[in-house]
Amino acid sequence: MKADEKATYGEELKEEIKRLKKEKGAVILAHYYQQGDIQDLADFIGDSLALAQIARTLKEDVIVLCGVHFMGETAKILCPEKTVLVPDENAGCSLADSCQADDFAKFIKDHPDHTVLSYVNTSAAVKALTDIVVTSSNALSIVNKLPEDAKIIFGPDRNLGGYINRITGRDMLLWNGACHVHEQFSVEKLIELKKANPDAEVLAHPECKKVVLMLADVVGSTAKLLKYSQESDCKKFIVATESGILHEMRKSCPDKEFIPLPPTDSTCGCNDCSYMKLNTLEKLRDCLKNGYPAIEVDAETASKAVKPIERMLEMSK
Ligand code: 13P
Repeated sequence: MKADEKATYGEELKEEIKRLKKEKGAVILAHYYQQGDIQDLADFIGDSLALAQIARTLKEDVIVLCGVHFMGETAKILCPEKTVLVPDENAGCSLADSCQADDFAKFIKDHPDHTVLSYVNTSAAVKALTDIVVTSSNALSIVNKLPEDAKIIFGPDRNLGGYINRITGRDMLLWNGACHVHEQFSVEKLIELKKANPDAEVLAHPECKKVVLMLADVVGSTAKLLKYSQESDCKKFIVATESGILHEMRKSCPDKEFIPLPPTDSTCGCNDCSYMKLNTLEKLRDCLKNGYPAIEVDAETASKAVKPIERMLEMSK
């Protein structure tokens, strides 16, 4: 397809999505890691916490969650009466996959008398085993609200858990899981980029390895990093998180420069989550048209999983 034909096709597709959205009484939510044109079409964009908070307030009967499976599942658990669609049902999460419910149940059994905190990047079955769900936005503040001598299991992200242990001086028991995108950032390239850009600040997601976090000026969720880049007087940032966030950063601060931190093995300059990028405009159109793929969570699991999510939302007010 020639460039002008591609542009016309893209515009027609976007118009079709808007029309179908209206026709089906749907609302579109997108995570900051989605491709730019999906973020631009969405009614709401946000980090994992914001998407869960927003889902609960919506009046529409159909929610299209442009993100990965656990995000759709969280929305479905919070809004069981609604239809929750995801553009690609194979959009999973390496971190969620690193913690299978049977193994996590055994880990909990082997360490009795612990409060179980689970990162939102988990399956509904893991959430059902959990006392409080957390996201990268609220994990630190929720841990700080627990008694100082509380024994805590934190799963599944060892990097986020380790970061909280260092900041709070706690000794939470960590599940040994990680996000394949955030683990891949190259420390050598970060040092080179810092040397070449001494005027830049480093923004990092807490799923990054310890050494990257130690070299960062700001550590936080996608929403926190975005807000910081908008409010800071600094004009240049090295960004250590999934490349989708650059879209909103560049859009809201066109006068600032955002340099994506590359992964260790890469010929390209950025770091994409292949799962997040499975969602496309075509698949968004098709899921609206067909009412499929829809997220389903069995009632027993959902009734257990909703409690730690509700507890998180309550503790985040
Ligand atoms: P946020 O809490 O910033 O949305 O992070 C979600 C995530 O999946 C990071 O990999």
